[in-house]
Amino acid sequence: MLSSSSSFYSVLLVLLLCLHSSDAAAAKIGQGYRLVSIEETPDGGIVGLLQVKQKNQIYGSDITNLQIYVKHETEDRLRVHITDADKQRWEIPYNLLPREQPPAMKLTISKSRKDGGGSLQVSDYSSNEFIFSYTADPFSFMVKRKSNGDILFNSKSDKSDPFGEMVFKDQYIEISTKLPKDASLYGLGENTQPHGIKLYPNDPYTLYTTDVSAINLNTDLYGSHPVYMDLRNVGGQPNAHAVLLLNSNGMDVFYTGTSLTYKIIGGVLDFYFFAGPTPLAVVDQYTAFIGRPAPMPYWSLGFHQCRWGYHNLSVVEDVVANYQKAQIPLDVIWNDDDHMDGHKDFTLNPNNYPRPKLLAFLDKIHSMGMKYIVIIDPGIAVNSSYGVYQRAIANDVFIKYEGEPYLAQVWPGAVNFPDFLNPKTVQWWGDEIRRFHELVPVNGLWIDMNEASNFCSGLCKIPKGKQCPTGSGPGWVCCLDCKNITNTRWDDPPYKINASGTQVPIGFKTIATSAYHYNGVLEYDAHSLYGFSQSIATHQALQGLEGKRPFILSRSTFVGSGKYAAHWTGDNKGTWEDLKYSISTMLNFGIFGVPMVGSDICGFYPAPTEELCNRWIEVGAFYPFSRDHANFYSPRQELYQWESVAESARNALGMRYKLLPHLYTLNFEAHSTGAPIARPLFFTFSNYTDCYGLSTQFLLGSSIMVSPVLGAGENKC
Ligand code: NOJ
Repeated sequence: MLSSSSSFYSVLLVLLLCLHSSDAAAAKIGQGYRLVSIEETPDGGIVGLLQVKQKNQIYGSDITNLQIYVKHETEDRLRVHITDADKQRWEIPYNLLPREQPPAMKLTISKSRKDGGGSLQVSDYSSNEFIFSYTADPFSFMVKRKSNGDILFNSKSDKSDPFGEMVFKDQYIEISTKLPKDASLYGLGENTQPHGIKLYPNDPYTLYTTDVSAINLNTDLYGSHPVYMDLRNVGGQPNAHAVLLLNSNGMDVFYTGTSLTYKIIGGVLDFYFFAGPTPLAVVDQYTAFIGRPAPMPYWSLGFHQCRWGYHNLSVVEDVVANYQKAQIPLDVIWNDDDHMDGHKDFTLNPNNYPRPKLLAFLDKIHSMGMKYIVIIDPGIAVNSSYGVYQRAIANDVFIKYEGEPYLAQVWPGAVNFPDFLNPKTVQWWGDEIRRFHELVPVNGLWIDMNEASNFCSGLCKIPKGKQCPTGSGPGWVCCLDCKNITNTRWDDPPYKINASGTQVPIGFKTIATSAYHYNGVLEYDAHSLYGFSQSIATHQALQGLEGKRPFILSRSTFVGSGKYAAHWTGDNKGTWEDLKYSISTMLNFGIFGVPMVGSDICGFYPAPTEELCNRWIEVGAFYPFSRDHANFYSPRQELYQWESVAESARNALGMRYKLLPHLYTLNFEAHSTGAPIARPLFFTFSNYTDCYGLSTQFLLGSSIMVSPVLGAGENKC
């Protein structure tokens, strides 16, 4: 017979399953934890033991004992780390994102708590900037700014709050904070935000790396950055701080305007608080921790032209010649996958891109000071006569499923995915880049589709008696024989994040989440680290090759990616809205420590109007990373295609090129202090609260303001 409490929870469970995600934000799931022991650690931190008050089965059973470790790692950085006290849990590998390890200590229940009396020993634990304090039962913690007593984070749940006590289960972790209603929050991406840069109450913020195009609003896009900056103006005094939840598992974050709730499907709670108090101080402290943005080569600040669909070398030569003829500056010419043989990485199509001709072309453009970049995708074609694949198999570099390389489909057809968490893969990848560089002396690499994107889902086989890819129809239709995997708790976790904005299964069109990496690491845990780990491996390879600052453009990013790569905002549309959204996403990436960022100028697809392309280059000329790129089925949109656009380009890029020394200095500043190259106005005008939500203008550095035209028929003069 069911006890009354368990039947209550089954009813609640049914209720929860029926709830909409926004309603689910308000559901209170458990009764939290009780702090039963606390002591100081030899490294100057504090460590405590938490015991669950009452277990239930909603989203799985609660973890009985938790260990909390708190440390003021610097005067302006506080860490609060909570994990299972009895069993090691998944954390972002310490070699990938270097940081201090919590001390290995095992606590027991302190006498005072066993007896049910006495206050725990440590109550306030402070640095120059922060005060950390807690309530023991139910456990909650608070972080205050020491200088003014302002409460920055407070996980205490009161009856009137829309959130409940902290929950910690194997596949569901929940914690919340109250927020003052006049706090302005920024971050929690990657996400195209129709309401602009400032987080908007009740908009969904889901973090999970996904290949859905940037035209999808309020959706978990290519990158995952579980960090927000919080700017408050208390009594005319602006103060900013940031909160990072260092966790790579999928999560929904619910922001109501007066609270923020994290619902995470694994890993640990690992919070870092950065004291600011200015926005520039926040990014300085943040990037000191996650890694300073990569210093960019000077040439990469010039203008770039790309297009998917430069079917042969003559087209590329023609584009370069036309830019010269139109007297529009062009520093970098790109190839999407058109130069490849059968869409296979590190190859050349012998007919359309014959090597001798390509080398002659590169000699020519290199002698003019121009550079050349090509794309590579992570999926390696399964093809026994393909050297890259042969060496990959010989070195055993792929992500596995039931002992075999996990099979997926991308542009070349069937592919396997390298596991960049495996040191052997990093070595093999470096060697492939070296070989390719000998074949074609490229000046940088573009790593695309690394969320990782898969045109199929589940467990697939190469079809018998059918060609895959079919050779006709869009290449992104799955042509492998696949079946969904639903019988593991990794593929079908109890709590469904709002993946792709529609609660699709988390393995939808990516690597199955029950596949595994080196050392048995589950894709479920490491999923959002794929592009990050690939950026690190690619950076290492390029740096070793030329000993120069590498240029890498990555679609998928994570906390710390800016140390290795630049980013573009993915597949956007040639619409006025998309032009506007590009500003918020660019500004967000500055806060994320990835300052070299821009959007596809004139839109990736389908076709911008002449007027829009005019206005877009006037904005795009001031993106830190300035590149025109389009889809193969869009009409040509190089800047010389319309006379009026060419003129705007000469004007706007003319200004950019005059500013290049300044941009280069900003790039150096970004590398030394994390200061974004393109900044929201509040970075300079923090006293002016009216600009806290401003997403239609931006600053280059501290004092050059870009105030573009963002609508049809508008004019600023
Ligand atoms: C997807 C990328 O987002 C896009 O920029 C690129 O052109 C295509 N992949 C083809 O490589």
